[in-house]
Amino acid sequence: MSGETGALSALLTEDRRFPPPEDFAANAVVSDPGIYERARSDREAYWEEWARELDWFEPWHTVLEWKPPFAKWFLGGKINVSHNCLDRHLNGPRRDKIALLWEGEPGDTRSYTYAELHLEVAKFANALKALGVGKGDRVTIYLPMIPEAAVAMLACARIGAIHSVVFGGFSPESLADRNNDARSKVLVTADGSWRRGGILALKANADVALERSPTVEHVVVVRRGGELSEKVDASMKPGRDHWYHDLMQDVSDECAPEHMDAEDILYILYTSGTTGKPKGVVHTTGGYLTQVYATTKAVFDLKDDDVYWCTADVGWVTGHSYIVYGPLANGAQVLMYEGAPDAPDRGRFWEICEKYGVTVFYTAPTAIRAFMRWGDSWPGRYDLSKLRLLGTVGEPINPEAWMWYHRTIGGERCPIVDTWWQTETGAIMITPLPGVVETKPGTATRPFPGVEATILDDAGEETDAGYLAITSPWPSMLRTVWGDDDRFRATYWSRWNGTYFPGDGAKRDQDGYFWILGRVDDVLNVAGHRIGTMEVESALVDHRAVAESAVVGKTHDIKGQAIAAFVTLKEGYEATDALMHEIRDHVGEKIGAIAKPEVVIFTADLPKTRSGKIMRRLLRDIAEGRAVGDTTTLADPAVVASLKAKYEHEES
Ligand code: WTA
Repeated sequence: MSGETGALSALLTEDRRFPPPEDFAANAVVSDPGIYERARSDREAYWEEWARELDWFEPWHTVLEWKPPFAKWFLGGKINVSHNCLDRHLNGPRRDKIALLWEGEPGDTRSYTYAELHLEVAKFANALKALGVGKGDRVTIYLPMIPEAAVAMLACARIGAIHSVVFGGFSPESLADRNNDARSKVLVTADGSWRRGGILALKANADVALERSPTVEHVVVVRRGGELSEKVDASMKPGRDHWYHDLMQDVSDECAPEHMDAEDILYILYTSGTTGKPKGVVHTTGGYLTQVYATTKAVFDLKDDDVYWCTADVGWVTGHSYIVYGPLANGAQVLMYEGAPDAPDRGRFWEICEKYGVTVFYTAPTAIRAFMRWGDSWPGRYDLSKLRLLGTVGEPINPEAWMWYHRTIGGERCPIVDTWWQTETGAIMITPLPGVVETKPGTATRPFPGVEATILDDAGEETDAGYLAITSPWPSMLRTVWGDDDRFRATYWSRWNGTYFPGDGAKRDQDGYFWILGRVDDVLNVAGHRIGTMEVESALVDHRAVAESAVVGKTHDIKGQAIAAFVTLKEGYEATDALMHEIRDHVGEKIGAIAKPEVVIFTADLPKTRSGKIMRRLLRDIAEGRAVGDTTTLADPAVVASLKAKYEHEES
């Protein structure tokens, strides 16, 4: 964490405080600060209370079995997630309430009431069954932000199939890797999607991936509809590929939800780690739903008349927990938007907020920084007075962006919930409760009641500046890495005994608030997306001209971090601009556009220790334009000086 000292001391002198507004607190879902003590005094009973707010076919007999690092929650309980998100709302006023309100990038709209969404899900569940999908089978979902993404997830949950959603921006190669690791039987995709006026041709990408996805027997293709589907002519392979609308023609709309064991797997979601191979994070059913339900209700203060909008993509965990499962389990009205925030112009998000009267809005700091840069006049054109609560997730929010969000979007009246969590944690872990906790710009404040966190050093001693640690199991925790218990142990549980290591640095202030400082491992956070440096390095050396590479993060005003790649070329290749672009594009093709390096620096050598280890710390110093640290262990100190000169030249 060298070099962050300046930013850090700025953070810790932050003394602006924002108590919950009185009228907000008076009506909040959680207004009693006693909840923290209640949770602490009997954590299991506390989580049971939340679990009881869900519908169970059979009750659990044991709340928690903890054999580190393996946890089981609500043992013996039988439950179905889609039943909880849909069926249980059908017997009351929510039946005809809008569950999902969708707007496409060109402005087309669709909506589903709870009753309608239930029908659609039951039908698609039957369609999947007809393709031979059963309990425990894996289904890859490679869809854009269209309602069918939620339908497909819920349909899997209904029949006990395990979904693996792959972000639509991932390359065919990434998709194939995920199909193969999960051994998926069915792939659900779409002809395409709009993105900033351009077309993302998902089926075409899927076709490339399918050439090397031997386990996939059937492909379901959703027609995005409108002008897009007129333009995109998806090729369909007879016998393998099926149109969604055809499958939905003659299936029954009755599909009894499977009675799932609380510990049956709900989904796998791949996320970057410190090796070149993404890991399949495994989430199960009962505990996961309990915590996403509880956090959605308490953190977003959800009421029946809210219009709730989370701007994440369903391809990331935020989309799973806070577009689909958490809000629908709460019977909320969920808004979903297909496209980019600057299409057709930079006011699009605020136009949507005004048009639908959005009351709760959840987005990422990288987006907030972009809005800030675009200027106050864009949100200024729209009526944002219905907003009552704002949230952020994905990376640390700098106090300046927090204050802008508070003033310009929140009109100084909306509490901000800065929520820290991860793909692995499944649900929000550190966050203010908006009706209870005083906030300060830049801190996620306190662990959610029932979550126990602290800060430890390498030796496992408590400290006020070190690594974030979660000290007891929580209901929505990952259960393992798909097919790789050893990696699960090594990645998360080997630093300290029985304590979870999230991979983030953190500080604690005099109020006991947590300030998350970012990753301490070789994982970058680029515009809120997790990218492993090793993944990018593997993609780089896969290019025929590249001999060796080292990837580091560099601070970026909007993205938080950007990717800087140092590359040595093989004999016979010349360092040209054209080659640089080719190499960048190669990474885009291998992983996806989000992983393309911002800068590629060609160098004759990389700085290495005498034992041959690349010294990334020095590369980070160079990429950040800092004074280069200690070079005494280097095999050839001259390498650094020449690299630094080169980098500065390229940057200027
Ligand atoms: C970072 C996204 C600071 C952190 C839900 C974590 C945050 C990683 C915050 C997980 C926050 C997420 N403040 N940092 N409020 N929220 N992070 O798996 O480094 O895509 O480890 O899950 O994002 O990213 P992931």
